[in-house]
Amino acid sequence: MTSYAVIGASRGIGLENVRQLAARAGSVVFAVVRNAATSSHLQDAIKGLNNVHVLEADVADYQSLERAAKLASDLGKLDVLIHNAAITGSPAFGRGGFDDFPSMDELDDDFITTFKTNTLGVIHSITAFLPLLRGGSTNRVVVISTGGADVPTVLKQGIAYMAAYHITKTAAVMATAKWALTLQDGGFVVVSLTPGLVDTTGTKGEYGE
Ligand SMILES: NC(=O)c1ccc[n+]([C@@H]2O[C@H](COP(=O)([O-])OP(=O)(O)OC[C@H]3O[C@@H](n4cnc5c(N)ncnc54)[C@H](OP(=O)(O)O)[C@@H]3O)[C@@H](O)[C@H]2O)c1
Repeated sequence: MTSYAVIGASRGIGLENVRQLAARAGSVVFAVVRNAATSSHLQDAIKGLNNVHVLEADVADYQSLERAAKLASDLGKLDVLIHNAAITGSPAFGRGGFDDFPSMDELDDDFITTFKTNTLGVIHSITAFLPLLRGGSTNRVVVISTGGADVPTVLKQGIAYMAAYHITKTAAVMATAKWALTLQDGGFVVVSLTPGLVDTTGTKGEYGE
């Protein structure tokens, strides 16, 4: 029996991870979302399943992740952590190029918010779930990345926009590498994985992002 925690499971790729992993024989899935009540796509997907536990946490809020990890530890063990949560863009600022922001203050605020979720969020969720992972049998951590975190790809494809997203996800790749080194002696495998382009419009969020 393998147990998984998917962080950022309300919609999009995280939701699909939950759906597919929950369908595996004997699996247990901890689906971590910011707001269980408003995660309607997830609630629909897991109706009738008793191997999915929905827990609440915001990856920008470390204490909330610690609480979620504690609840998960009361329910069982954890073998694989999948950190998927991310802010992929702020609709208020167009395509998110440097010149799409009306002021530098607004750019600063948007970058800081995005950094807290996309970069610090990785560090927060691995730290919070590490004690539980240490008690599991596989010691695997997957952080979902993007081709937009790869400088040659961004230059080749000429993507000047989505600046906060790509910059903070690039930092997340480095955070993941630092964790891989930090945990390598404990038998952990910590990797970044890029899903490629995935159409998630079928499970859009409350604000259409
Ligand atoms: N879709 C693609 O083509 C693509 C391509 C490359 C990489 N990726 C990567 O794949 C991952 C998922 O992308 P997606 O397209 O599925 O995005 P999405 O549909 O926008 O979903 C983002 C998920 O992250 C959650 N989230 C955002 N901020 C959070 C926070 N502070 N705390 C906890 N959860 C939070 C959202 O929850 P709420 O419902 O609460 O907002 C939602 O579940 C991301 O890491 C992204 O970088 C996606």
